Amino acid sequence: MINPAGGIVYHTRALRYRNTLWRAFREETHQWLSEWNPAEQDLLIVGSSGGYCLQPDFLSRFRSITALDPDPLTRFILRKRFARSFEWDREDYFFSKRGHLSPVGIEKMVRRYPSHAILFSNFLGQLRCLDNLLDKPERFADWKVTFRECLERAGSWASFHDRLSGNLEPLISASNSSSSDLVTDSGLVDRFYPSSTRASGTQTHELLDHLTGDLFPGFARRFLKWELTPGRFHLIEAVHSNGSAQQLGKKLSAESASREVSSLG
Ligand SMILES: C[S@@+](CC[C@H](N)C(=O)[O-])C[C@H]1O[C@@H](n2cnc3c(N)ncnc32)[C@H](O)[C@@H]1O
Repeated sequence: MINPAGGIVYHTRALRYRNTLWRAFREETHQWLSEWNPAEQDLLIVGSSGGYCLQPDFLSRFRSITALDPDPLTRFILRKRFARSFEWDREDYFFSKRGHLSPVGIEKMVRRYPSHAILFSNFLGQLRCLDNLLDKPERFADWKVTFRECLERAGSWASFHDRLSGNLEPLISASNSSSSDLVTDSGLVDRFYPSSTRASGTQTHELLDHLTGDLFPGFARRFLKWELTPGRFHLIEAVHSNGSAQQLGKKLSAESASREVSSLG
């Protein structure tokens, strides 16, 4: 119920701010998700929490939804908020029993859900806090290699995740919110944090790097602002892929073959 990426503190903030401080971010996230058109009918949400950033009409596009989140409260909250059923998978696909980020799980997750679209729901930016990855850059680098390979084999996927956070407000507008590929951290600073705001007043400005800048090379992306608590801003990066027709064709024929086998049995 208490973890650095969620738990009671997060639920309390969501209750307090979801219709005020978080409203614009939730609406922009919904708009971006409406542009994601996975052909899969089933959805896997990684880091679902109470689905505070998701809207009912997005979820209603899917026949079944499986949620992954170790926080037991999320089960109750999701059901109550969306009045629909969710399936739960209790396995941890990210961390070993000793709490270290491990590439073994992500391979297993992608193999276990070949017919689901996968939504990493404001989760990947939390990995660095969950395993203090700044001290172990090579562990995160190895994990990212496996992660990218797994996504190549997966169908449709989407992720919105933290890139930078701190007390400095990113200035995002229609003209600078999109990019056709990776944007480096220094590119983000130049784009969204003008030097006049960086230098303003007597306040010290520090931005936390969530180490997610190199997760999705080759994909277009959108940037969004999320004011998590008053004066604490997260620069969120949102990336999606509709999978390839070839991957989907393989999945659908595997599904229909397994249906035929089970109807024979
Ligand atoms: C920032 S919150 C997600 C926000 C949420 N998607 C929303 O719509 O408000 C990150 C979530 O990741 C969950 N989490 C932590 N470790 C996890 C793991 N190993 N696998 C899946 N989810 C995990 C946390 O419990 C937390 O609910």
